[in-house]
Amino acid sequence: MNKDIAIKVQNLVKNFGKGENLVKVIENASFEIKKGELVALIAPSGAGKTTLLMMIGCVQEPTSGEIWLGEEKVYDNKWLSKDTRKIRREKIGFIFQAHYLIPFLNIIENITLLPQVNGVSEKISKQKAMELLEYLEIADKAYNKSSQLSGGQNQRVAIARALANNPEIILADEPTAALDAQRSISVIKMLKKIAQEQNVAIITVTHDDRILPYFDKIMKIENRGIVFHELGEDKIL
Ligand SMILES: Nc1ncnc2c1ncn2[C@@H]1O[C@H](COP(=O)(O)OP(=O)(O)OP(=O)(O)O)[C@@H](O)[C@H]1O
Ligand SMILES: [Mg+2]
Repeated sequence: MNKDIAIKVQNLVKNFGKGENLVKVIENASFEIKKGELVALIAPSGAGKTTLLMMIGCVQEPTSGEIWLGEEKVYDNKWLSKDTRKIRREKIGFIFQAHYLIPFLNIIENITLLPQVNGVSEKISKQKAMELLEYLEIADKAYNKSSQLSGGQNQRVAIARALANNPEIILADEPTAALDAQRSISVIKMLKKIAQEQNVAIITVTHDDRILPYFDKIMKIENRGIVFHELGEDKIL
């Protein structure tokens, strides 16, 4: 396995249901994503974007195929570890459309919650959280509640939370859907900086054409498979 590869998927298949109710979502997807790449995942509603992210994130079980996360093969027609939650905790950061911050905790408590559940001390987890908040230019809000922040600020906190366990991979499902154009671009620029500086692979589902020029690659689900579009000089969009 090439050390530069963060995600490798081979012959991935995902069906839901059986018999008359069989829905084929992904038929034979194979692709690789390198460390440090910011990739957009686009396709019409119902094409399987969320399903694909959730399989890579070890949340939903594929029907068949193979998945590697970094050097580790995690799926080979079955999960290769009994504890997929551990893989998720150690390797993956998730960001969703809604920020899902806990309203009665302040920002820093939201970010340190999972690391502390994972056994990181309060002191160390707070230090790391403050570093992340400074990196995302939102440290002045550390002791505020989520309700006191704007949509874009909350989404940056959600990014900080996703980064708190030093993931190799970030999976973001429409992280800018609730934001205006300017805030969406600022969130995507932030993700780009993280991908480049921290060598993290990031897949972002989006329906927003305005942010596509900021991505390194565009990945599309077409005919239940995956195709890539490089963003060259002659922007395809
Ligand atoms: N748990 C499930 N049981 C049965 N069918 C499902 C299940 N989850 C998803 N599907 C079906 O799989 C297909 C892909 O769904 P998915 O949520 O991945 O689409 P999506 O591309 O993320 O769409 P959207 O842009 O609307 O979020 C859809 O046809 C959906 O109905
Ligand atoms: Mg979806």
